[in-house]
Amino acid sequence: MSKIEDALHRPLRDLRISITDRCNFRCRYCMPEEVFGPDYLFLPKDRMLTLPEMERLTRIFVSLGVEKIRITGGEPLLRKDIGEIISLIRHIEGVKDIAVTTNGSLLKQRAKELKEAGLKRITVSLDSLNEERFGAMNGREFPVKGILEGIDAAASEGLKVKVNMVVQKGVNDQDIVPMAAYFKEKGHILRFIEFMDVGNSNGWNLQHVVPSKQIIEIIHQVMPLVPAESNYYGEVASRYYYQGSTDEIGLISSVTQAFCGTCTRARLSAEGHLYTCLFTSAKTDLLGALRSGSSDEELKELITEVWSQRQDRYSELRSELTEAMPKVEMSHIGG
Ligand code: GTP
Ligand code: 5AD
Ligand code: SF4
Ligand code: SF4
Repeated sequence: MSKIEDALHRPLRDLRISITDRCNFRCRYCMPEEVFGPDYLFLPKDRMLTLPEMERLTRIFVSLGVEKIRITGGEPLLRKDIGEIISLIRHIEGVKDIAVTTNGSLLKQRAKELKEAGLKRITVSLDSLNEERFGAMNGREFPVKGILEGIDAAASEGLKVKVNMVVQKGVNDQDIVPMAAYFKEKGHILRFIEFMDVGNSNGWNLQHVVPSKQIIEIIHQVMPLVPAESNYYGEVASRYYYQGSTDEIGLISSVTQAFCGTCTRARLSAEGHLYTCLFTSAKTDLLGALRSGSSDEELKELITEVWSQRQDRYSELRSELTEAMPKVEMSHIGG
């Protein structure tokens, strides 16, 4: 195996694979209905990676140092063959960890199948326990109960569950404490994510961000917290324990405390494009290269070349950028 480093000496460790650009939700911060309406053109099947192509590319990434795979979307559970995908990827030698990020709406029906495919952990996005606010945030009036039942189903199958909550000032900041209390009681790790300026259409503004520091203070007043060490190099979330217990929460502070310095993540879209940052429009067409007959060695060289030139650190530069730059939509490459 040949491990590679980018221009800022960051190794390639994680691969986040989006397996569909479709989603049954229209979260305002990710796929607002005005942009992703009935006329929006999603990827046709023939432009998407087939399973053997996905497996082949994943093997190549693993041979370059990737150990951890995250399956994302859009909404990955919309795919009937997600079990097969998990099983294929999990059996690749060198893959140490595989996780799925889902909105949870189909989890109740599919938790068993995911477990049987060999999945051990899952991350569910949920922004509020309040029906009105959650319905408005997911853009489809999807009920909270549906997600909570999905989480319970996953937990009863023995999957380790983490919950991601995007916090937006004036939208769901009043849900911070109720969410913390609910998931502490359930024994699942809740992570608070600072609202980010992903994509080109979510109307982001710094005023709508609740800094992680404030989130910690809000929770600490009600349920005292103590900081915890990070679990591994480049961990995105900073962790806190509830005092006197091993129950924990995480804070993902990509706006107020950027973590680009240790960013080891490559992203592969459903159409087989490689992105080296969540906030870029620059991409490399790996599927095109693969379908025009490139050998494994040639694909490896192409990825190595792209990674070795990588200098992305958007979150660190955000405040210095004077003009908005075009970015890939979050629903193309997952979180
Ligand atoms: P674990 O493997 O469970 O530790 O998960 P993770 O820390 O990789 O987190 P997850 O994949 O659940 O990502 C959570 C959220 O963090 C995503 O939905 C994004 O909002 C944000 N995030 C993850 N990776 C990046 C990144 O590279 N850059 C930025 N800016 N945000 C990221
Ligand atoms: N800011 C922060 N997180 C976001 N996500 C989607 N859009 C944004 C945004 N603008 C998160 C979702 C989910 C994951 C796929 O990405 O909540 O957890
Ligand atoms: Fe769908 Fe997730 Fe985007 Fe919401 S954040 S629209 S659930 S992909
Ligand atoms: Fe990595 Fe780009 Fe996120 Fe920075 S902004 S942590 S470089 S994906």
